[in-house]
Amino acid sequence: EQRESWDGSPLVKYCGCWLQVMLFRPVLAAQKHFKAKSTDILLSTMPKSGTTWLKALTFSIANRNVFPIDQTPLLTSTPHMLVPFLELNVYWEQDNPDLENIPSPRIFSTHMHFELLPVSIRETDCRIIYICRNPLDQFVSHIQFLFRNKFGKDADPAAMDEAFEMYCQGIYSFGPFWDHILGYWNAHLENPGKVLFLKYEDLKEDITSQVKKIAEFLGLPFSQEEEEQGLIDQISGLCSFESLRNLAVNKTGITLGVLKNSSFFRKGQVGDWANYLTPAMAERIKKLMDTKFEGSGLLFKT
Ligand code: A3P
Repeated sequence: EQRESWDGSPLVKYCGCWLQVMLFRPVLAAQKHFKAKSTDILLSTMPKSGTTWLKALTFSIANRNVFPIDQTPLLTSTPHMLVPFLELNVYWEQDNPDLENIPSPRIFSTHMHFELLPVSIRETDCRIIYICRNPLDQFVSHIQFLFRNKFGKDADPAAMDEAFEMYCQGIYSFGPFWDHILGYWNAHLENPGKVLFLKYEDLKEDITSQVKKIAEFLGLPFSQEEEEQGLIDQISGLCSFESLRNLAVNKTGITLGVLKNSSFFRKGQVGDWANYLTPAMAERIKKLMDTKFEGSGLLFKT
């Protein structure tokens, strides 16, 4: 099934998931070619849910014995260069990239639904970290991201209305949002040692406990000595919104063809949706969340 997205770009429905048509081939290529290793780490997200933040944190935690914090590659490379997307980078132009010689742990990212992941990712011992964000903020962040990149300004209300309608119908890039989130939530419930499920809002509320959680999940818990040296605070500080946004490498240049590196850092707040969505729009998403997440045990702070 094919549809036109609110912005005119073509979408295709594949295994119940809406994808931009241009991503269809890379997704199929990844499904066919990617062979997961048990040491791999996959970071999975809906766009605008904290991908950049999670990339910086996971890279820093996993490589903390390789690079001292003052020589971290994050000072000279963007999080998206250090942790490539399977469908948007690795398989974007190639069907058979050579991934064997990448040192372990290899860290990749994806926006694919759980059901679309290459089988070897689901069936080996590699670890998946999923971060989600309350859909109200995620929607607003996404539309502002697209508008700022395309037109250099915030979305106008008419475009916001149109995009919102399709978002609520689930006909949206990587939508429906509820299926994306529930796919990873259920996989986490089934095997919490394989899938760590994080929320953007929890990281904002208490980054220290979430950094520890990521390290423990990866089998790399912080030693008492590291804690006493303040390493958790150093990593959290380095990866904070202000710190990453102010690094020269994140202020200039483009990534993924057309997207400005700086556009990955907008406000970094919880609850910014209230500045853009009408009460009726907010109510509609909240009702959708109530219905779709009913019985799952999944709750969001909005
Ligand atoms: P806003 O548009 O609400 O500001 P992604 O990385 O998945 O593309 O998500 C981008 C969103 O995360 C943007 O949200 C961006 O500002 C925010 N963000 C980026 N880096 C962050 C960080 N280190 N800490 C908190 N939020 C961050």
